[in-house]
Amino acid sequence: MLKLINVTTMIGEHQVIHDVSLQIARGDFVALLGGNGAGKTSLFRTIVGVLPPAKGRIEFKGEEISHIAAHKIVGKGIALCPEGRQLFPQLSVQKNLMLGAYHRKDKKGVEETLEQVYGLFPRLKERYKQMAGTFSGGEQQMLAIGRAIMSKPEMLLLDEPSMGLAPLVVEGIADAITQLNQMGITVFLSEQNAQIALMITHRGYVLENGRLVLEGLSRDLITNEKVKKAYLGT
Ligand SMILES: Nc1ncnc2c1ncn2[C@@H]1O[C@H](COP(=O)(O)OP(=O)(O)O)[C@@H](O)[C@H]1O
Ligand SMILES: [Mg+2]
Repeated sequence: MLKLINVTTMIGEHQVIHDVSLQIARGDFVALLGGNGAGKTSLFRTIVGVLPPAKGRIEFKGEEISHIAAHKIVGKGIALCPEGRQLFPQLSVQKNLMLGAYHRKDKKGVEETLEQVYGLFPRLKERYKQMAGTFSGGEQQMLAIGRAIMSKPEMLLLDEPSMGLAPLVVEGIADAITQLNQMGITVFLSEQNAQIALMITHRGYVLENGRLVLEGLSRDLITNEKVKKAYLGT
């Protein structure tokens, strides 16, 4: 479904992604692991067209998307739930959600997706009129995921959804992400929290200094000595 071939990304003079190649099949649930500054956010921004690659090729469903503008890539079926949520704190829950559907013309379909989001996160429904900025970190993360779902993506990129959240809250978010994958959405999940990511995903890639250094099944990575030492603190 998604294919990166020798992708290199620059921010100004600084090369942040080095020659990355990877493939994700439809329905897959894949982790992108790496410490702070490894390049996880840069890689996601490259995929969704915010930070186009300097070299290499990105394909989605067989079509080259390497140089397609970000606002058009959403319409092709990839949604990014960005690091740090990036909500509109002064807007209501429902208005934040509807922003995720801005490019959709099918009003009825949008309403159906909204009900799906509310089904997945009943707390958002209970408080649909409340200002997003008054929510707890966990609720804001649910809202950010909900907003990404509103675009009806076939593939969802989640950038560090566990960041700054208490372990119990992280569990709830992890369950919701697992449900989304079970509903048929292909998920690419970036995490510094390798423990939670490897518990729920099928496969994973490890990124260091903008380079992929390891890949494998999540159940193998979780026992890999290098991963244990660098990311699991054991
Ligand atoms: N706007 C920017 N300008 C310059 N360098 C940046 C910018 N954003 C990120 N970087 C650099 O790119 C590298 C990768 O960062 P990032 O993609 O944010 O990693 P991660 O998401 O894994 O923490 C880091 O070395 C970081 O300092
Ligand atoms: Mg990041």
